[in-house]
Amino acid sequence: MRTPIIAGNWKLNKSPKETQEFVDAIAGKLPAASKVETVIAAPAVDLPALVAFAKNSELKTAAENCYFEDEGAFTGETSPKVLSEMGVDYVVIGHSERRGYFHETDEDINKKAKAIFRNNMTPIICCGETLEQREAGEAEGWIAGQIKAALDGLSAEQVASLVIAYEPIWAIGTGKTATADQAEEMCAHIRKTVASLYNEATAANVRIQYGGSVKPANVKEIMSKEDIDGGLIGGAALVPESFLELANYQD
Ligand code: 13P
Repeated sequence: MRTPIIAGNWKLNKSPKETQEFVDAIAGKLPAASKVETVIAAPAVDLPALVAFAKNSELKTAAENCYFEDEGAFTGETSPKVLSEMGVDYVVIGHSERRGYFHETDEDINKKAKAIFRNNMTPIICCGETLEQREAGEAEGWIAGQIKAALDGLSAEQVASLVIAYEPIWAIGTGKTATADQAEEMCAHIRKTVASLYNEATAANVRIQYGGSVKPANVKEIMSKEDIDGGLIGGAALVPESFLELANYQD
């Protein structure tokens, strides 16, 4: 039985002060973690305020990126060892914005996944195709390639515990949501890919999120699909009331 996972990705938004205002607004209003797991991925500077709140609430926390080395001469990077020590639960890796703007490669993402597990946290691994790839009928092959590369060398047990976020690039921040059927089709394809790389039990356990213009108005339909276990949400997760509606979509 896969627990649904609703995660906000704040991207480069909010200060520590705004983070405190956000958590004050959602305090006591999140669903039980056994029913729906709720996560906020925030900029590194906002994580202390988020982690402090998470200690006494149902919220889990995520970094939006980390490096694959724990320490050393890597100016400007964030250590997975330090994130773990701070009490962060998840790290988002391979977001299309990081792949696109910061040239993160499949190999980097694989190294980061291993570093995150080495430090006892859980990766949320993003994948997604461009509109051109979809229109050329290349989306399935592209996504399978991203998944295979990201998971390379991970154990079945690790893969069963992690989260994959399918985020078609053409649906991110565009207001153009994939239809629930399109999202389901690709999430089912990702689960099949995991089954072919590992086994059916691993594929049955891995949680797969859809991301791309998810909002309170469409979350229920998206979450009703068999292979969609959650959402990774940008814009609609920035406002407390909207995040709470998403988190409490079952009510
Ligand atoms: P939007 O929900 O703003 O489309 O962003 C999706 C996303 O990139 C989440 O990681």
